[in-house]
Amino acid sequence: MKKTWWKESVVYQIYPRSFADSNGDGIGDLRGIISKLDYLKDLGVNVVWLSPVYRSPNDDNGYDISDYRDIMPEFGALADWEELLTEMHRRGIKLVMDLVVNHTSDEHPWFIEARKSRDNPYRDYYIWRPARDGREPNNWQSFFSGSAWQYDAPTGEYYLHLFSRKQPDLNWENPRVRAEIYDMMHWWLKKGVDGFRMDVINMISKAPGLPDAPVTSGERYQFGGRYFVNGPRLLEYLDEMKRTVLSHYDVLTVGETPLVSTAHAIDITNEETGHLNMLFQFEHMDLDAEPGAASSRASIRPWRLLDLKQVMTRWQKDLEGHGWNSLYLSNHDQPRAVSRFGNDGRYRVESAKLLATFLHTLQGTPYVYQGEEIGMTNVAFESIEDYRDIETCNMYREYVEERGYDPQAVLATIHAKSRDNARTPVQWDAGAQAGFTSGTPWIKVNPNYRTINVAQALADPDSILHYYRRLIQLRKENPIIVYGRYELILDADEQVYAYTRTLPDDRLLVILNFSADTPVFALPGHIGFSAHDLLIANYPVEPSDDIRLLTLRPYEARVYRLR
Ligand code: GLC
Ligand code: CA
Repeated sequence: MKKTWWKESVVYQIYPRSFADSNGDGIGDLRGIISKLDYLKDLGVNVVWLSPVYRSPNDDNGYDISDYRDIMPEFGALADWEELLTEMHRRGIKLVMDLVVNHTSDEHPWFIEARKSRDNPYRDYYIWRPARDGREPNNWQSFFSGSAWQYDAPTGEYYLHLFSRKQPDLNWENPRVRAEIYDMMHWWLKKGVDGFRMDVINMISKAPGLPDAPVTSGERYQFGGRYFVNGPRLLEYLDEMKRTVLSHYDVLTVGETPLVSTAHAIDITNEETGHLNMLFQFEHMDLDAEPGAASSRASIRPWRLLDLKQVMTRWQKDLEGHGWNSLYLSNHDQPRAVSRFGNDGRYRVESAKLLATFLHTLQGTPYVYQGEEIGMTNVAFESIEDYRDIETCNMYREYVEERGYDPQAVLATIHAKSRDNARTPVQWDAGAQAGFTSGTPWIKVNPNYRTINVAQALADPDSILHYYRRLIQLRKENPIIVYGRYELILDADEQVYAYTRTLPDDRLLVILNFSADTPVFALPGHIGFSAHDLLIANYPVEPSDDIRLLTLRPYEARVYRLR
């Protein structure tokens, strides 16, 4: 397997609006990020992925871009961004920018032009269709509720928006659109950015004719994914992007790709013939929703460890030697990992460390989402008024006002799944507003900031934060953590997730108790060794422990080197 810097990296994701506010307006900003770079340097991460900082009316917090070549004034100016890049590079940290090119804002100059007349030169930058029988051109549902089509009165046609109506989809069939995007990518790369995270990049190619989605529920609009996810021209576009842009730079590229199979992932991430370094797949994010639910956000069920093992093992094994995995347990669209996959009550610290161990010891590039390294948890605002996320607010309105669901039941789902769980401000200290801002934050801080915060974590040698730091360090010192072959053991155990990592001359054993119980771990006999060294653990461990037979403590995690 080829060795590359982006395989050996640990990426830290910043959602700028919620990270650190430097000027008291309640909104995180670029100077806020600059003020925390030493913190990131000490944590040991060597790449930062910035969620969008481009000019945007913020219908979807920056994922609706109105100018690809300028910074959102609330976040600062281009000069602040240049300084951020310089200060990051000075500390050996690379910068990956978000690339949102499935859609723009409806306030982007291209769209402002496009909607003026049917023969405007920019009309064909977007996807326009006439009404069908006086209604939308097809039955597709938007990810953010309602129809994926918006009627535009001035020209009497509908435009497609898979997300909000302020996020019209770009028409990738138009070579001028593609050329504009490639130019823009060159522009940022020439400024020195070190890569891109590509927003819903596997939705850029829509099936010809935009056929109706199959009707699977009694709802008015239906999920049309089969006609726009992994569409017919996707690989052609990615190929062109690679040839025209990416192949000219040594960069990290990661595609956000819902509903992707390992076969697609191998096509896209293959080192010789692929297009991107790695993808964000979603299978493990769907384990706590009913299978086939119209929206995994509106559905909750307990997840099962056997399913997690099965999904992760398939991704590990299928991509081994053929592609490359990205590893993540949370991001700005997902609930907090410790609340979802661990235990955010009594065993918050232990289970957050267990999840960290899991994240860092699989094969792939780990992504740490801001606040995860101190074990930030989900939030449960009592009123929908306190939520800010467009997806959450639209979903509430649709379920409560249109479908007549019980508001308390809908709120319970929101508490478990809302994207705002990840978007409450980073908890820096126990002071007012968690040290995030001297003003009023754009979204309320999680009330648990008095006990869960960075200042506390820095002061406590046993904190989750220091544990992340040690894991990141271990990864730098042990190539086996990056490159070793993954082998699941005890595949039928419902509480313990254990695996080995192997290189020709080295082997690791990872033992993870994903439960609040005290199960017995019995090492399968075929795993021979004569001695073992503990690399890391989340409880005090006796060197004399017999690792062939261990009674594990709640959420206990241990990593051994076998000799
Ligand atoms: C991606 C982003 C999400 C955004 C959506 C539309 O899924 O991660 O935050 O709302 O795309 O751009
Ligand atoms: Ca600010």
